[in-house]
Amino acid sequence: MRILSIETSCDETAIAVVEATGGIKKPRFKVLENFISSQIKIHRPFGGVVPMLAKREHIKNLPKLLRRLGIRSDVRGQMSNVPTVTAIAVTVGPGLEPALWQGIEFGKRLAASLHKPIIGVNHMEGHVFSVLLDAKNSKVQSANSKASKRLALRATRLAFPAIGLVVSGGHTILVKMTSLTKWVKLGETRDDAAGEAFDKVGKMLGLPYPGGPEIQKISEKGNPKAIAFPRPMLNSGSASRSSASSNYDFSFSGLKTAVLYYLRDHKITFENKKKIRTSVSIRKSVAAADVAASFQQAVIDVLVKKTMQAARQYSARTVFLCGGVAANKPLREALDREAQIAGIPFLVPEFIYNTDNAVMIAAAAYLGKLTKRRYALTAQPNLTL
Ligand code: KG4
Ligand code: ZN
Repeated sequence: MRILSIETSCDETAIAVVEATGGIKKPRFKVLENFISSQIKIHRPFGGVVPMLAKREHIKNLPKLLRRLGIRSDVRGQMSNVPTVTAIAVTVGPGLEPALWQGIEFGKRLAASLHKPIIGVNHMEGHVFSVLLDAKNSKVQSANSKASKRLALRATRLAFPAIGLVVSGGHTILVKMTSLTKWVKLGETRDDAAGEAFDKVGKMLGLPYPGGPEIQKISEKGNPKAIAFPRPMLNSGSASRSSASSNYDFSFSGLKTAVLYYLRDHKITFENKKKIRTSVSIRKSVAAADVAASFQQAVIDVLVKKTMQAARQYSARTVFLCGGVAANKPLREALDREAQIAGIPFLVPEFIYNTDNAVMIAAAAYLGKLTKRRYALTAQPNLTL
């Protein structure tokens, strides 16, 4: 199948063309085109994603990305120069409702004018199946920069049972997969998602949105042992507990509050939020780096320990990590190290496939099509795995 996929669930507008082969036994994905237009700069002054602004940007960016594929449309909406595609795929949820609708409506119009079927995709399945993608033979082009890179194709290295940690801005899910089509959620966050906690703590430290990469950056100068922040629910996954459904739940809101209280009690404030590095005193930036590093370490400790507990309990043959927070280098390294110690192969997508992209949506569409799993073509903000 050659799939033209569309992703607009949050603040990235993305379109890809992916050739999927191999069937359910050995799915392989060759990335022919991969365009991402990031809206981070637009939302940054607001400290987070503004749904109506995201919608407006998707409306603007989708036709632009389509033109970058070489597709032209005349005044009557007639398409020309269209690459041969078998189907259109579009994210239907979870995500911001107005943003989702833009992708869905655009995808429907495109499918109708090309006379092709359209497949609704669950964004979280996209993140999971991003572990099947390999960067070496795909083409990456940022709509904001002209950079492009040829990367390779690879068959799945996922062996089952697999334990996966899916960590994004909206979700923190531990999943057990027994095949590419069967999985159960072992646990998820009871409050904030891991990425959300990174973003909120970033804000407290006066860092620009999104906080995740910024916290990682300033943590390099900080001491992760400087402050003993709590490790919420660290031991709740121990095998002594009986109820499997809640054993592996997470909670990050207490940790976030602990950071808030620490800053308050130590009278550390970052008034000039946009210019932290130039405006705050050296004492404050050292403090911010220590707070960031200690917070990041607390999150990593919880995520890694629980993932490895589940991996051992279920005799996992692969441990994988995906979602935007999987871009966090110390987290990737910590989980890789622990999986190695346990003798379990570890899989994490290339950096370009951690945060939102349309390639993973094509991969999930292919597997969904093979297994006849269907999603209605309506915006479903609360869809989960
Ligand atoms: O998957 P994603 O692109 O969008 C959602 O589906 O939510 O994830 C975005 C999240 C944001 O919360 C962002 O701060 C976080 O991923 N993130 C990171 C890093 N890069 C992105 N968190 C920690 N460290 C990073 N390097
Ligand atoms: Zn995502």
